[in-house]
Amino acid sequence: MSEKEKLIREIKSQMLSDKSLPLRKGAHNLVFGDGDPEAEIIFIGEGPGYWEDQKGTPFVGNAGALLNQLLASVNLNRENVFITNVVHYRPPENRDPEPSELDAFRPYLDRIIEIIKPKIIVTLGRFSMAKFLPGVTISRVHGKEKQLKWEDNEIWVIPMYHPAAGLRSTDIKRQLFEDFKRIPEIQEKTRKSEEVNQGTKVQQMKLV
Ligand code: URA
Repeated sequence: MSEKEKLIREIKSQMLSDKSLPLRKGAHNLVFGDGDPEAEIIFIGEGPGYWEDQKGTPFVGNAGALLNQLLASVNLNRENVFITNVVHYRPPENRDPEPSELDAFRPYLDRIIEIIKPKIIVTLGRFSMAKFLPGVTISRVHGKEKQLKWEDNEIWVIPMYHPAAGLRSTDIKRQLFEDFKRIPEIQEKTRKSEEVNQGTKVQQMKLV
């Protein structure tokens, strides 16, 4: 088991035993996250719905089926990314998470990001977008990547509509497919800048 996988398992068991977490009482399962802890991309949604709560896995209902199609459209799948949410127990009747709930889950989500150290974070919907890009409006910024420093790492954040919104509007669905095309372009960009950094390091070593 890799170091990241070990740390991810540890954080999951800490969450499972944290009785102070809100929404826990009405939920069937903790919906921690799914995918590869070694992934370079994390997708962050809002919170579990009915099916996620039943199964303990994020994005397994209708919105999840659309997310799977979006991933496939850029040659990704659930095994080579990591998927999680801003709250990890189901809010009753799928209501929006409250600020105090977001606060309670935040340290765990931050730790997940710190362990995985993704190069790209795709936010799905306005709650996860607001974590990285406070004060912006999704209709203006969706599909527009932004590079920022998170902890000590440079990451690209790509805000996107929530897939559930794509199920309600064919226009938003079309935009989601368009916006997903940014992902391979940004992957390419991060690879190139890594090559440049590697090259600079080699040059510096030669000079020493
Ligand atoms: N919607 C979300 O935001 N997250 C899920 O896990 C499922 C639906």
